Amino acid sequence: MSKILLTGGAGFIGSHTAVALMDAGYDVVIADNLYNSEDVVIDRLEQITGKRPAFYAIDVADADQLAPVFAEHDIDGVIHFAGYKAVGESVQKPLAYYRNNLDTTLTLLETMAQAGVNRFVFSSSATVYGEENPCPLTETMPKGSCSNPYGWTKSMIEQILTDAAKAIPSLSVVLLRYFNPIGAHPSGLIGEDPQGIPNNLMPFITQVAVGKRPQLTVFGDDYDTPDGTCRRDYIHVMDLAEGHVKALEYAKGNTGAEVFNLGTGTPYSVLEVVHAFEEASGVPVPYVIGERRAGDLADVWADADKADRVLGWKTKRTLQDMCRDSWNWQSNNPSGYRG
Ligand code: WQD
Repeated sequence: MSKILLTGGAGFIGSHTAVALMDAGYDVVIADNLYNSEDVVIDRLEQITGKRPAFYAIDVADADQLAPVFAEHDIDGVIHFAGYKAVGESVQKPLAYYRNNLDTTLTLLETMAQAGVNRFVFSSSATVYGEENPCPLTETMPKGSCSNPYGWTKSMIEQILTDAAKAIPSLSVVLLRYFNPIGAHPSGLIGEDPQGIPNNLMPFITQVAVGKRPQLTVFGDDYDTPDGTCRRDYIHVMDLAEGHVKALEYAKGNTGAEVFNLGTGTPYSVLEVVHAFEEASGVPVPYVIGERRAGDLADVWADADKADRVLGWKTKRTLQDMCRDSWNWQSNNPSGYRG
């Protein structure tokens, strides 16, 4: 049975990827320091799949803490989710972001080399395209200048992994550039559970719908888009998770480093998402129009063709599916995992 290590596997994308991997017949090992997640997720994964992943509550940046994972398990590949990911926080605490996100990656690479593990899938982000590239964004475009330290860590880690793949002939690296993951597993047992006030649109919408917040503030409606609000490429987290299974299979037959967009190729505006959510949930979402948020771009969406062509993967779930599943998670877990 092929065994895959998920660093940060108790988080939003990691936990959903764990389900997709176990559904595809893989064994899963999770290493997570629970900085931005809860260990109850492991119980939920067992509830969903009938299998309990091995779990290590460790700091992946610490080689001494990471060593036992590779000593106790025959790891065939690694998917690296672990990292700080709050854009605004990264502006306030740049050194913590560079230290944590780069150190986890470097320690992981060194430990994998010692253990002879050669498949590395990385949780990257569309944010590395920066502000200069036109939509739809394609993998052949040059990376742009990021607007925050979080984005720069993703861009730097892509460079580290690309250089490592050049230096280590047996290493296969797949860089997955996520667009806007939303939704939840249809069971409603796992989902997006941000700490504090949500930065991202969908968790804010669901917290308004469940009565935790009075209203949504739409950050500007004076952009150069059809309804004036920003457009993004929202992708169902289960489609995203299934993309990781395909990426692992690709890494098995290839070496070097390869980049893939994981998006739908279809943008929706903030107001389109709000209205789709109200239709899918039957719950009104009161909102006001506020000021623009610093750093926001009018448009960000993917050219999703390469993943279809090369990985044999494309998204299947609709915006309505994303809204329905987000609501199912939040309405069944009004206070998230800390309910
Ligand atoms: C989407 C749209 C907001 C909240 C971020 C990160 C990116 C990636 C995905 C990690 C924007 C608007 C939001 C609210 C709003 N994360 N909005 N009111 O900014 O596209 O991407 O998450 O990789 O790196 O930057 O996603 O969900 O924050 O915003 O109007 O309360 O919703 O202005 O137009 P974003 P988002």
